[in-house]
Amino acid sequence: MAILIDGKATAVRLNQESQRIVVALKDKFGVAPALAVVLVGQDPASQVYVRNKILQAEQAGIRSIEKRFDANLDTDALMEVIEGLNDDSAINGILVQLPLPAHIDAPKIIAGIAAHKDVDGFHITNTGRLMSGEGRPLMPCTPQGCVILAKEHLGNNLSGKHAVVLGRSNIVGKPLAIMLLQEHCTVTIAHSRTADLEGVCRSADMLFVAVGRPQMVKGSWIKPGATVIDVGINRISVGEHSSRLVGDVDFDSALEVAGAITPVPGGVGPMTIACLLRNTLVAACDQHDIDGREVGL
Ligand SMILES: NC(=O)c1ccc[n+]([C@@H]2O[C@H](COP(=O)([O-])OP(=O)(O)OC[C@H]3O[C@@H](n4cnc5c(N)ncnc54)[C@H](OP(=O)(O)O)[C@@H]3O)[C@@H](O)[C@H]2O)c1
Repeated sequence: MAILIDGKATAVRLNQESQRIVVALKDKFGVAPALAVVLVGQDPASQVYVRNKILQAEQAGIRSIEKRFDANLDTDALMEVIEGLNDDSAINGILVQLPLPAHIDAPKIIAGIAAHKDVDGFHITNTGRLMSGEGRPLMPCTPQGCVILAKEHLGNNLSGKHAVVLGRSNIVGKPLAIMLLQEHCTVTIAHSRTADLEGVCRSADMLFVAVGRPQMVKGSWIKPGATVIDVGINRISVGEHSSRLVGDVDFDSALEVAGAITPVPGGVGPMTIACLLRNTLVAACDQHDIDGREVGL
């Protein structure tokens, strides 16, 4: 029976660390970190995500500024908001909640966020720095959370392990693969055109799954004893009137085979916000020329 990797507990620990770093930033340097969260439209899931981000930022002592707009805001008007936040020296991090309404040019907006305030790590300067290993990128939050959770079970040294990343999106699969490469793993990226997908997954010491297909990866796809990090968040119907969240991994069958596995909910999900708050502190330190180690970062 696999060990459960508790993302909720790890996120609480990270948030407590963030809280201590905020206090140190204020006490030692008089810096009060601030995060701006921009939401356009009424998407119910986005509203929940934004509420949680703001709540947890405040719990960590990070000032949060919420900017909400009607769904009919256009690209130019949103760009003006972003430029205002870029120019505001009191704001350290800018997060634009995705997805944006279809009529807004999302790539243009992401490119318009100042790279040093891009706490989602989606700006091309940050993805380029991550890819090249040059400079200090703000790294995407969900992949950061995945690596931290793998280390929770396997320890800090992931060197030489075969990591299979199932999914190649820009927000999860690709950056995660690069981060694992930087940890000296041997990395295979699999996707919808991969031949013998089950066999590829079965070759993994660590299997990271981000496909957006409920319960797709079965226990028989997993090498006995492997570490499984399930990024998927899918709502499925249970009976006529209720629903529940499941991952991209078939948890019950995986539990029998894996050495360790993240649950859904309570695995990668909580880590995303914890890493967002950490990114805000990294950004605040960089913007004030503070060596993060001086405040425990
Ligand atoms: N925990 C969190 O905070 C968090 C954050 C972000 C996302 N998520 C969840 O993670 C999952 C993935 O998100 P995403 O944004 O990366 O999704 P995405 O952009 O839709 O990408 C899905 C990837 O999975 C691959 N794929 C789809 N069906 C496949 C199949 N049948 N066999 C093999 N590969 C397949 C796709 O391959 P192709 O490229 O070949 O099409 C694509 O690379 C979703 O459930 C999402 O809700 C969770």
